[in-house]
Amino acid sequence: MGCGRLRSLALLGCLLLASSCGRGDAETNVEVSMPDVVEAEIGETAVIDCEFSLPENSSYTYINWFSGEKMTRKRLISLIQDKEDWAEDQYRDRLNIAKNFSLVIKKVTPQDAKLYICQVGLGSLGVGENRTKLQVSKAPELPEFQLAKDGFRAAEPTLQEIATCTARNGFPAPSIVWYKNREALQPKDEETGIHATVITESSGLITIRSMLSARVAKEDREAQFHCQVNYTLMGKNKTAVSESFRINVLYATQNLSFTLDQPNQELKEGDNATLVCEGDGNPPPEYTLFKTEDSQYSSPDGKMLFPSVMRNDSGLYWCKALDLHTLEELIASVDLMVNYLDVPTIFPAGPQQPAEGEDLVLTCSTTGSGPLKFQWQKKGKLIADGAVLNLTFITYEKMGNYTCVVTMPDFPGWVRSRHIFIAVRAKPQKVHLEQNLGVREGEVVDLTCSFYSVPRMNISWSTSNSTVHTSRRKNHYNSTLSVLVTKEILKSGLNCTGENELGSENQHFPLWLKTKEHPDKTETITQESKGVIIVAVIVCLLLFAVLGAVLYFLHKKGKLACGRSGKQEITRPEAHKDEIVVEVKSDKLPEEAGLLQGANGEKRSPGDQGANAGLTLDQETG
Ligand SMILES: *[C@@H]1O[C@H](CO)[C@@H](O)[C@H](O)[C@H]1NC(C)=O
Ligand SMILES: *[C@@H]1O[C@H](CO)[C@@H](O)[C@H](O)[C@H]1NC(C)=O
Ligand SMILES: *[C@@H]1O[C@H](CO)[C@@H](O)[C@H](O)[C@H]1NC(C)=O
Ligand SMILES: *[C@@H]1O[C@H](CO)[C@@H](O)[C@H](O)[C@H]1NC(C)=O
Ligand SMILES: *[C@@H]1O[C@H](CO)[C@@H](O)[C@H](O)[C@H]1NC(C)=O
Ligand SMILES: *[C@@H]1O[C@H](CO)[C@@H](O)[C@H](O)[C@H]1NC(C)=O
Ligand SMILES: *[C@@H]1O[C@H](CO)[C@@H](O)[C@H](O)[C@H]1NC(C)=O
Ligand SMILES: *[C@@H]1O[C@H](CO)[C@@H](O)[C@H](O)[C@H]1NC(C)=O
Ligand SMILES: *[C@@H]1O[C@H](CO)[C@@H](O)[C@H](O)[C@H]1NC(C)=O
Ligand SMILES: *[C@@H]1O[C@H](CO)[C@@H](O)[C@H](O)[C@H]1NC(C)=O
Ligand SMILES: *[C@@H]1O[C@H](CO)[C@@H](O)[C@H](O)[C@H]1NC(C)=O
Ligand SMILES: *[C@@H]1O[C@H](CO)[C@@H](O)[C@H](O)[C@H]1NC(C)=O
Repeated sequence: MGCGRLRSLALLGCLLLASSCGRGDAETNVEVSMPDVVEAEIGETAVIDCEFSLPENSSYTYINWFSGEKMTRKRLISLIQDKEDWAEDQYRDRLNIAKNFSLVIKKVTPQDAKLYICQVGLGSLGVGENRTKLQVSKAPELPEFQLAKDGFRAAEPTLQEIATCTARNGFPAPSIVWYKNREALQPKDEETGIHATVITESSGLITIRSMLSARVAKEDREAQFHCQVNYTLMGKNKTAVSESFRINVLYATQNLSFTLDQPNQELKEGDNATLVCEGDGNPPPEYTLFKTEDSQYSSPDGKMLFPSVMRNDSGLYWCKALDLHTLEELIASVDLMVNYLDVPTIFPAGPQQPAEGEDLVLTCSTTGSGPLKFQWQKKGKLIADGAVLNLTFITYEKMGNYTCVVTMPDFPGWVRSRHIFIAVRAKPQKVHLEQNLGVREGEVVDLTCSFYSVPRMNISWSTSNSTVHTSRRKNHYNSTLSVLVTKEILKSGLNCTGENELGSENQHFPLWLKTKEHPDKTETITQESKGVIIVAVIVCLLLFAVLGAVLYFLHKKGKLACGRSGKQEITRPEAHKDEIVVEVKSDKLPEEAGLLQGANGEKRSPGDQGANAGLTLDQETG
């Protein structure tokens, strides 16, 4: 052991000698190859290669690694007979010489950035050396900004501190660039100041801080700022940017606007409207809104809401804005104009019951804020333009629901209406019902006779020996007869008479035997020969022709008394029938309808009317 130690000491002496001799010695003919620069990241491991050629079967004598600058070098570690020898104990942890003679530096620190010299001693072959510069680097943390203040008053004469940007723990010292709207800011005496501070941390890493000051203009409220850090890592130039930010620029209100939130829309009653007062300052001024001086109220957002605007909301409104910084006051006004359209009234009011042949003039009237258009409708169809409906020579067909519709051409879709029910006083009107009049002798049949009548009416039948059941719905009457079919009834048929104070109307029910026109008849035809059929057909045709001629002749002469009732039934207009159907659906008797009318007439509330833009019918006039 003692011997080995002695030997290594001897070698060390020789080695030191060689190193001192080798410097600047021309006889060095050993070629050592090393990279000029090695890049290493702080905290990682750096490897500095040292290569040289050895003649076959020969060996190196020693390898010395030095650090330092040209004139002062310091031995770090040596390799002698494959044994590492550290110049100082503190190097043991971090420095090694690899198998290929490279210097391995673990956990690189900023202080490791130096020149490294590899000296190779090859005994008789001589000594050679070369050098490498170790460059160490580390990316700083992402840059962070911090605003100097919450708000920056615009148009101040001096520069204001805006924000600081910090990039921590980088190496070597990074630099910070400020950007405004993606444009790099350069320091300018009047406009922009940039002051950077470099702080070397105890770790040797570098934190850089840059403060931006600027003259703030109102336009800067839109500006996007950010800072960028430029640094090198492993010999490459890199950048990292902070989040971008805006600054809160404070400026006085110069313009005040006071408007309706939907400025192009004309208001109508029931609309949801909002008046908006807005100053262009930041922060916004303090708003006071009022219509008359004694109704002032302050509104933080400058808004005045009308959930359902009414005609008496119309008028001039004022907004006063006080800038709390300059204490300047601005005032603006807006004229609110609310259009209205009332539900019309009809004169004469209430349900009308004119007698047949009478005239009736209905006049519709209402008030509205603009030009009005009146129309009369019946069953949704236009029957007259204008406010006056002149019904002349009223007939039963004119009965029904008449609606006065008022619109304002300036407000399409805004409709107000009222209807009136007109019942015509006339003698009872027959209502035709489909009934089977084919009967068998001896059976009991039901026949229904139906009438419409204003005023009240009575129904009677031409037979007394029977059961009669009558029913009535409003102005509609049914009478159902249950009768035993006798020969006499078959012969005479049955009559039903409806009568009111204005006259009477008769309905005739002819009856026939079912048996004569059913299966029996077809049987007889099949039994007879074809010839007989042909003869019979010809005879029938001739008979019909003669009958037709006679009827035509009589008709021309006006001698054929056409059954009035029958004719009416056939020619009754469709409208008339529909009308009755409408009536039948209602189960209110006229008396009840009359009572209801009063109650319904009261229920008109303005809110209801305005809610729908569509047809608003709010009074049961029928
Ligand atoms: C050092 O090594 C480099 C790279 O191999 C080489 O180009 C250079 O000549 C060497 N310098 C000396 C002094 O040997
Ligand atoms: C190197 O050594 C080996 C054996 O150790 C020998 O065979 C060889 O010839 C030698 N080479 C030279 C060039 O001396
Ligand atoms: C030398 O060895 C080290 C560690 O084993 C390795 O990282 C390096 O690349 C080697 N150098 C050469 C030139 O082979
Ligand atoms: C920072 O990096 C950007 C982008 O690489 C470059 O345009 C700029 O000149 C650099 N600024 C400084 C001060 O290094
Ligand atoms: C890196 O940036 C520095 C200074 O900003 C510049 O001098 C150098 O040329 C850049 N290098 C590369 C590789 O872009
Ligand atoms: C005020 O408003 C008017 C009209 O909108 C505009 O022309 C003017 O430039 C505004 N003034 C300011 C200071 O914003
Ligand atoms: C009125 O309109 C505003 C927005 O335009 C809405 O927030 C508010 O709920 C509306 N009010 C009513 C009663 O409809
Ligand atoms: C109603 O019409 C009739 C006949 O067309 C006419 O004589 C009468 O004057 C009109 N009445 C009104 C009020 O227009
Ligand atoms: C009346 O009807 C009853 C049975 O409903 C019958 O017995 C009677 O003969 C009838 N009288 C006449 C006059 O038809
Ligand atoms: C009358 O009879 C017809 C047919 O059965 C029925 O549709 C109608 O509702 C009845 N009318 C009344 C007032 O009972
Ligand atoms: C029924 O009325 C018709 C006239 O429409 C009349 O000729 C007939 O005699 C009446 N029949 C009865 C049974 O009353
Ligand atoms: C008249 O028409 C209105 C709707 O247009 C309806 O509510 C009312 O019931 C009708 N009256 C009658 C008697 O048909």
